[in-house]
Amino acid sequence: MPASSRGESQSLCVEEVVAARDPSAVRELFDRIAPRYDLANHLLSGGIDFWWRERAARLVKQWRPPRVLDLATGSGDLALAIKRKLPQSEVIGADFSPEMLAIARRKGLTQTVVADALWLPFADRSFETVTVAFGLRNMADWGAALRNMARVLTAGGHLLVLDFSLPRGILRPAYRFYLHRCLPTLAAIVTGKKDAYDYLAASIKKFPSGGAMTALIEANGFSGATALPLTGGIATIYVAAKANL
Ligand SMILES: C[S@@+](CC[C@H](N)C(=O)[O-])C[C@H]1O[C@@H](n2cnc3c(N)ncnc32)[C@H](O)[C@@H]1O
Repeated sequence: MPASSRGESQSLCVEEVVAARDPSAVRELFDRIAPRYDLANHLLSGGIDFWWRERAARLVKQWRPPRVLDLATGSGDLALAIKRKLPQSEVIGADFSPEMLAIARRKGLTQTVVADALWLPFADRSFETVTVAFGLRNMADWGAALRNMARVLTAGGHLLVLDFSLPRGILRPAYRFYLHRCLPTLAAIVTGKKDAYDYLAASIKKFPSGGAMTALIEANGFSGATALPLTGGIATIYVAAKANL
C-alpha cells in the first residue's frame, strides 16, 4: 500500500520505508522532523557535520562553478556554506520537503525550488556543479537520481556527494552499536521522533560506500569518481566529473 493511503505516519514501518525508500513516506518524515532537524544534527554529531560540509564547500570552491544545484538541500547548510565561499555564484537549493525548504529560506538561502530529485524541473546542462549531502541515501532509485544529476550538469561538470558510510576495521562494530542502540534513544530525547532515527540507522546500513559507491556513480553518467573518507570513515565525500558520452 503506498504511504499516502496509509494515513498518519505513526503507522510507518521503518524497515519497510528503508527497503522501498518510499518517497511520500520519506518526505513526510522530513516534514515532521524539520523544526528540530538542525538541533538534532548538530547535537547528535557533536558538531562534526559542520566541518564535513565546510570541507565539501572548499572542494566546490576550487571548481569555481557559476551555477550550483544543491539537491536534497534540506535546511540549506551545504548550500549556504557554498554561497559563503562563492558569493558570485548562483546557488539553488532543491528539496521535495516544503517544511525543510522553509527553514533554509529563513536561514538566508534565497533561491529554493520544491522538486523531487528523480524529476528535476531543470533543462539539460543547467549547472556546472551538483551537490547532494545526506540526501542520495534516501532516494528511491540511486542510479536514476545520479543520471538525473548528470543530465542537468554541463559537459565536464562536477558532482559532489556527501553521506554517511560505515567505517572499516575495528571501528565498524562500535559504530554499528552506536547507530542501532545509542542514536535512536538519544534522538528520541532531542526530537521526540525515535522512528526517524531508527530509519537513519537502517538506511546507513543499506547504503553503498567506498568502492561500491564510486562504481555506482561511474555506472550512472560520471567518470573519475573518488572517495574521501572523513572522521574515520563515518562519512565520505565522493567527487566525480560528468562522463563524456
Ligand atoms: C538528511 S536531510 C539532508 C539535508 C541537507 N542536505 C543537509 O546536509 O543537512 C535529507 C533531505 O533529502 C530530502 N530528500 C530525500 N529524498 C528526496 C528526493 N527524492 N528529492 C528531493 N529531496 C529529497 C529530504 O526532504 C531531506 O530534506
